[in-house]
Amino acid sequence: MKYLLLLFVPVLFSCSSKEEITQQQYSVEGMALYKTHCENCHQADGAGLRDLYPSIQQTKLSPEALACLFKNGKKGNGFMPANAKLQALDIAELVTYMREKWGGKKQIYPVDSVKMALQNCR
Ligand code: HEC
Repeated sequence: MKYLLLLFVPVLFSCSSKEEITQQQYSVEGMALYKTHCENCHQADGAGLRDLYPSIQQTKLSPEALACLFKNGKKGNGFMPANAKLQALDIAELVTYMREKWGGKKQIYPVDSVKMALQNCR
């Protein structure tokens, strides 16, 4: 019985950590993408730049709205350019990174959800 238990423990472990590993991969990739595509304006800490670029640390936007914003940009008081280069996976990784860094939540935003969101942008 003892041995049986020992056999099960690693299986349980690898299950939970596989998801964690994927989440970490998304987050690390997302951080790299953030540096390339976003940091110039919103800064490394997400605090933005004076009146030019808003802070994104406390954004109330839903993941769906974020996906559309990253892809299509926005003209409001300021101007955020569209970024047609971003693929669904990139967006999934960016949102996953933002969630972890500023939301304190380790949760993947799945690629399929991004694809759905992008089909429903207003
Ligand atoms: C050229 C500068 C620039 C770049 C590059 C840029 N943004 Fe923005 N971003 C802006 C501006 C300006 C706004 C405000 C747009 C408005 O509402 O007028 C904004 C708005 C936002 C918001 C909404 C904030 C809120 O809560 O209303 C988020 C989130 C955001 N950007 C994230 C990102 C991410 C992530 C990237 C990279 C994929 C990115 N931005 C790239 C300038 C930029």
